[in-house]
Amino acid sequence: MQRILVTGGAGFIGSNFVHHVLGRTDASVTVLDKLTYAASRESLDGLPEDRVDLVVGDVADQPLVERLAGEHDAIVHFAAESHNDNSLSEPGPFIQTNLVGTFCVLEAARRHGTRLHHISTDEVYGDLELDDPARFTEATPYNPSSPYSAAKAGSDHLVRAWVRSFGVQATISNCSNNYGPWQHVEKFIPRQITNVLDGGRPKVYGAGTNVRDWIHAEDHSSAVWTILERGRIGETYLIGADGERNNLEVVRMILEHLGRDADDFDLVTDRAGHDLRYAIDSSKLRAELGWTPSFPDFATGLARTIEWYRDHESWWRPGKDATEAAYAAKGQA
Ligand code: NAD
Ligand code: DAU
Repeated sequence: MQRILVTGGAGFIGSNFVHHVLGRTDASVTVLDKLTYAASRESLDGLPEDRVDLVVGDVADQPLVERLAGEHDAIVHFAAESHNDNSLSEPGPFIQTNLVGTFCVLEAARRHGTRLHHISTDEVYGDLELDDPARFTEATPYNPSSPYSAAKAGSDHLVRAWVRSFGVQATISNCSNNYGPWQHVEKFIPRQITNVLDGGRPKVYGAGTNVRDWIHAEDHSSAVWTILERGRIGETYLIGADGERNNLEVVRMILEHLGRDADDFDLVTDRAGHDLRYAIDSSKLRAELGWTPSFPDFATGLARTIEWYRDHESWWRPGKDATEAAYAAKGQA
């Protein structure tokens, strides 16, 4: 696989994956990205110019995606509308990009016989009770809660149907919550870090007891590359790094790292339909493909991420006020 098409490669995880691939292999990468509000051209800075190309375009543009699919050995499909809160206020773009966009990618892969890896989320499984010792596995039934997760669940079903009906050479991964550099300030960890850096207070939904299973974006990238190289066609692999924390624990870690009182946060209006807990059992990926995370310790990864945001204010500052204004309009600021 020498020529990789990465959809959504100017977003948080996609750009991390592009750096990962160019840093560890001799493959070349074409990024197909619509450059929505969530994208960042700067996240692709510093890459070898002769091995990376950016095509600004829509994954739902069938002729464009078909042309690109014919010019590449593999497609890694990250492009999506990704934020649950936005899907509650305006679901339309989530249906268009996450469902119609994935349909276009599948048709292009079918036409050209191109290997495809589809990036999905653990949210397709719904949520777990806080006191339930269970974790999600590849056999957990789908039960999505939000327009975002329902659209991602639908996209997974499309991929499975195209594998079975048309023999498309695809794999799927469902990963837990990512953190790390280049994540938009609308998301939980960057929002709270930048609030504290601004001298403000973290804003925690509801009672703050919801649990997420955190993984560093670099570990998501290494897992995706492993599946692309060695995963079995038609299979789904869950990706996670045993990083369960509730939201209160995370904001307290951020506050303490930045020298503030651990209780210096606000509880704000809860998210509608807020999933209680996600937890991933990644045994299949580890046992079958030998993958292990390089950031097994969430505290270390979080500390590095806080320092990254402290050092990159010029990157996040331009979007911060508009993001907070949108939260304020919903009573979440
Ligand atoms: P992001 O919002 O940071 O980036 C999404 C990227 O896709 C942006 O660059 C955007 O411009 C691009 N994009 C959006 N619509 C497009 C379109 N119609 N055509 C082309 N490009 C388009 O998202 P992220 O957090 O990096 O998530 C990437 C993928 O990983 C998504 O598929 C998401 O469902 C999945 N995922 C995310 C997480 C997480 O914790 N963030 C966890 C598991 C899975
Ligand atoms: O589990 C994987 C998913 O993780 C991905 O599929 C999504 O693309 C990604 O956005 C993420 O979804 P979440 O909804 O879990 O992430 P978010 O960062 O929005 O919120 C994490 C938790 O923090 C969640 O319980 C809601 C809460 N939260 C969020 C924000 C933005 C707050 O308490 N305060 C906030 O300001």
